[in-house]
Amino acid sequence: MADQIDEYFDTALELVKACGNLIKDHVSGCNKFELKSCDIDFVTEIDKKVEDTLIGGLSKKFPTHKFIGEETVSAGAKCELTDDPTWVIDPVDGTMNFVHGFPHSCISVGFVINKEPVAGIIYNPILQQLFTAKKGKGAFLNERQIYVSEVKELKNALINFEAGTSRDEERCKVVRENFKRITTTGHGVRTLGSAALSMAMVALGGADAYFEFGIHAWDIAAGAIIVREAGGVCIDPAGGAFDLLSRRVLCAGTMELAQELAKTLAQYYPERD
Ligand code: IPD
Repeated sequence: MADQIDEYFDTALELVKACGNLIKDHVSGCNKFELKSCDIDFVTEIDKKVEDTLIGGLSKKFPTHKFIGEETVSAGAKCELTDDPTWVIDPVDGTMNFVHGFPHSCISVGFVINKEPVAGIIYNPILQQLFTAKKGKGAFLNERQIYVSEVKELKNALINFEAGTSRDEERCKVVRENFKRITTTGHGVRTLGSAALSMAMVALGGADAYFEFGIHAWDIAAGAIIVREAGGVCIDPAGGAFDLLSRRVLCAGTMELAQELAKTLAQYYPERD
């Protein structure tokens, strides 16, 4: 199986790198976009092109594999996760950043078997950051192996936090409440505008934890394996087991910090993917 995963991973990596050029062509921003679920949820032509290229290339080589892609689901496909080998794809994570030219956007590709992420690629072609992991083989930034931080207490932690891309008032209230709770307890808060890159920062040890309510499977599938392979944990924000389709995530360098954060957070339960 490990050999097969290497082959799947290498194929995906080649396609992801090639798609990176489509993003690099728009380093100063991409002012042509359409709205999706609300007035701050965007899709560009590049999102669609990258997703088509990845799904086209992977399904040609691995015809039995399944796919969950952000734009395919937005266009009406079912978001269905079975035990079969499944590619979970966000073609441009951080689309808002991409539109504005804020250089934190990436392609995020997770490979999931039996509902568990076993390989992941997060690639920011603008800043040349390639985060990768395969189960049991460690996590890497470019060629360098990376490790999470060892911070165990919230009072010493830098937390990645996202406001998200919906204006749902109940969710926004929880976002504001958690911002208050973290800024009064922790070292500080950072917000990058990309869930996948936020998880990559935890894997790198640059941030000690990240949580969000309202993300989707494609935002977090690759990040989950990259954080775990860097030595960290990925759980539900209330402290239980991670569920890829729950639209809830909390990851941290240590379980102690993850559990303290889980107890600190106001909770929000979006409709599942
Ligand atoms: C979004 C980004 C953002 C996060 C949202 C995601 P997209 O993904 O990751 O940081 O807060 O929840 O939906 O729409 O840019 O692919």
